[in-house]
Amino acid sequence: MSVERTLSIIKPDAVAKNAIGEIETRFEKAGLQIVAAKMIHLSQEQAEGFYAEHKERPFFPDLVAFMTSGPVVVQVLEGENAIAKNRDLMGATNPEEAEPGTIRADFAKSIDANAVHGSDSPESAEREIAYYFNDNEICPRG
Ligand code: PPS
Repeated sequence: MSVERTLSIIKPDAVAKNAIGEIETRFEKAGLQIVAAKMIHLSQEQAEGFYAEHKERPFFPDLVAFMTSGPVVVQVLEGENAIAKNRDLMGATNPEEAEPGTIRADFAKSIDANAVHGSDSPESAEREIAYYFNDNEICPRG
């Protein structure tokens, strides 16, 4: 087991539902620490850049439109196996396939409005964290 960091986003649908606190509680109860966080309303350019690897996918315009439709919370979670742990807590991309009790099963309504994002690998986590945060904005407890 190793201590990792992962990039988490609480997406516009979950922010609009006033579910920020309930989602953060799940991370904290699972032993993940929020070591950086900010609320931002992504610009078109920010959303397109973040999801650039998907730009040829048919859903790309819808994904960018959704992610710019309202504020999001971007944050860094830290803890043992944080990347996999966060993805377990999130559940499957399509909420209809998400295990009961996962964030997407409980808060998401469709594959295009699915409540949360989480990095899928150490390489993605490093790139995604650097996309939103400078080193001096990350505050490990020590
Ligand atoms: S892949 O192939 O595993 O990388 O793709 P996946 O993780 O399933 O999806 C990548 C991101 O695109 C979002 N997505 C969609 N948005 C809108 N419409 C449709 N149909 C759709 N399918 C997938 C999905 O939520 C992923 O966003 P993030 O923020 O990474 O969770």
